[in-house]
Amino acid sequence: MVKNIAVILGDGIGPEVTQQAIRVLNAIAEQFRHQFNYTYCLMGAGAIEKTGNPLPSETLEICKKSDAILFGAIGHPRFDNDPTADVRPEQGLLKLRQELQLFANIRPVSTDPALFHLSPLKSKYLEDVDFVVYRELTGGIYFGEKKINETYTEASDLCIYTRSEIERIAHLAFQSAKQRKKKLTLIDKANVLATSRLWRKVVKDLSHQYKDVKVEYLYADNAAVQIIINPKQFDVILTENLLGDFISDVAATIGGSIGLLPSASVGVSTSLFEPIHGSYPQAAGKDIANPIGSILSAAMMLEYFQLTEEASLIRSGVAWALGNGFVTKDIDPVNYYFTSTIGELISDFVQNKITTDVN
Ligand code: IPM
Ligand code: MN
Repeated sequence: MVKNIAVILGDGIGPEVTQQAIRVLNAIAEQFRHQFNYTYCLMGAGAIEKTGNPLPSETLEICKKSDAILFGAIGHPRFDNDPTADVRPEQGLLKLRQELQLFANIRPVSTDPALFHLSPLKSKYLEDVDFVVYRELTGGIYFGEKKINETYTEASDLCIYTRSEIERIAHLAFQSAKQRKKKLTLIDKANVLATSRLWRKVVKDLSHQYKDVKVEYLYADNAAVQIIINPKQFDVILTENLLGDFISDVAATIGGSIGLLPSASVGVSTSLFEPIHGSYPQAAGKDIANPIGSILSAAMMLEYFQLTEEASLIRSGVAWALGNGFVTKDIDPVNYYFTSTIGELISDFVQNKITTDVN
């Protein structure tokens, strides 16, 4: 199989973790005789530096033409500390999501007993946790009209949703629930927000088409608590853009390290795969960041290409590494391996170069 992949290394630790995902993909290509062609493109702080634009038009064109996008991370402290900066790295990612209409961000969350000790939660809460968050990604307050007056005394952000924007992601979430444990939880603030009441109405209307899926509604403040005190109750979580940003990070933390989790953003045009962690500038260039989130994002990309055997081989490699103590500093600050070593070990595993009695 030949696939053309746009690669956006991005900022901070983005390049070093993505390079390990590519190393693993190359091992898969060799093993299964596929051809993955990579086209590297700029986005974020690096793009602003070189071109003045967080999403150069060349990047957008390459992404549109590719079969998938593999993305690292975005963000730079130079911009974080300057609230008056008009051009910001994150605008690149937001524009890319909007231009490609990547309306659903899918984040699977599960826990691994080998890492229970790292979780902020007690082990008894972590068994059998396996859920997936569907976060709306191209609407809501992120994309509504923004205003700030010149004297910095007043600002506003408009939150707007249409029925069709809600329906298209809700269908994806219902279909996922149908294949899984048949439960969908809508997270909103319907006690306060009109947009949330629209979400509830639309989801309720659609639920008649998915009679075997049980639907529950939770207010976001309660949901944040429930994810901490009883995470195993969830199967598919559906939520809007801003609440989804918070909820998915809370959910990501319970597994032990945010560095482990992948995500897929899907929609109308080319799908994008990225680890859920940020650019972690303090670790950039040190070869200590966790590449697993990026490597598992590559596995999600292969599943999207319907290369399921290849994807599960990567997942086995990751489980093998974690199970045998081949972990980065975020997981074991004393006995840790470098980012590049983990990438190399998982590539070797994929190519059968490792016998499992290595320990
Ligand atoms: C995410 C990130 C982005 C978001 C930022 C970088 C714009 O936090 O993908 O969750 O807020 O959506
Ligand atoms: Mn976020």
